[in-house]
Amino acid sequence: MSDSPVPEELTPDELYQAIRRGTPPLVLDVRNEDEFASWTIEGLPLNDLLNIPYFMFLEDEAGCLERLPRAREVAVVCAKGGSSAFVASILGQHGIRARNLRGGMIAWGDLHVTTGVASTRESAVTLSQINRVGKRCLSYVIISNGEALVIDPARHVDWYTSLAQAQQARLTRAIDTHLHADHLSGGPAIARSLGIPYHIRLDDAAGARFPYHSLADGTRLALGSSVVEIIAMHTPGHTPGSTSLLVNDKYLLTGDTLFVSSIGRPDLGDKAEEWAKLLYRTLFDRMAHLSDAVLILPAHYSGVAEIRHDGIVATPLGVARRKNPVFQSRTEPQFLDYVLNHLPAQPPVYEAIRRANLGQIVFDAEHATEAELGPNQCAAALSPN
Ligand SMILES: [Fe+2]
Repeated sequence: MSDSPVPEELTPDELYQAIRRGTPPLVLDVRNEDEFASWTIEGLPLNDLLNIPYFMFLEDEAGCLERLPRAREVAVVCAKGGSSAFVASILGQHGIRARNLRGGMIAWGDLHVTTGVASTRESAVTLSQINRVGKRCLSYVIISNGEALVIDPARHVDWYTSLAQAQQARLTRAIDTHLHADHLSGGPAIARSLGIPYHIRLDDAAGARFPYHSLADGTRLALGSSVVEIIAMHTPGHTPGSTSLLVNDKYLLTGDTLFVSSIGRPDLGDKAEEWAKLLYRTLFDRMAHLSDAVLILPAHYSGVAEIRHDGIVATPLGVARRKNPVFQSRTEPQFLDYVLNHLPAQPPVYEAIRRANLGQIVFDAEHATEAELGPNQCAAALSPN
């Protein structure tokens, strides 16, 4: 192995952009079959993703090479980028252009891609969506006149401070729309390190071991100047404290309350029916006054099919009302029947993540990575996509 040439690398962002352009390399995942089955690179055509575990190259190199098309560029992927580098160098020795995914699936899980949703030069307001691709998690940064607000930040907080700095702004608030169960929030840490307020609604923050400011329904948040109006809307159901943020009457940051083609699961507190009833009232009463033109910006998505051509995960509320199956169940009993019969299994690690997000336990870096592996399981009532 020591005399193997060092293979070329590609970064997670380069791979993501190639997938978005529709010109991806063939992806060869060399992790074990169970790791591959639980989580891998998404958005590839069916035949462009292959799993040949690393050890098989040691046992039967020629047999493995026969399974690879000669004319295709290959990206080799493993957990951390080590065994994939070895396999990529073998492919290179046989005339196949193979690049190693730098940092492997760990780095893929930490890739954050920023896309501008709104930028109005005259009023100096920007709204950016930050897509943590490997987990299908979405955060937001709103900037107005040198002040920035971050919503649902992931634990890699440098992404948000850098984004604000690049626009000559300073973060002045961090908000979690609810107590997250699928990923570790960066909200409390970013608030502590910058000395800024951290907001989460009281109903979700019981037992929190850090200071927070609850967001009452109807609270107006000032940011930079009066050109941006941000109003907190209590939208319970996924959790009792779930709060959406209405920005300039145009954008609704829904957290895990409403997704593009599903809704946030109501069963994480073991009160599925009670919380599903809250969700029903949220969708059909609390959101009823909102215009069809309001753009829904969720905290998660269910698959690459929900990413629009411009790279943003979003849908007008009117389209969701027509197409999202959760709006098709009009009576409460029908809605409850539909939602309660579409609940996926709860990952066991979610309880520990919730406790960590209240500051009750602390994950070291290795355990944090392990706890967050794979896409979120926050949606109920998924439609096929
Ligand atoms: Fe959630």
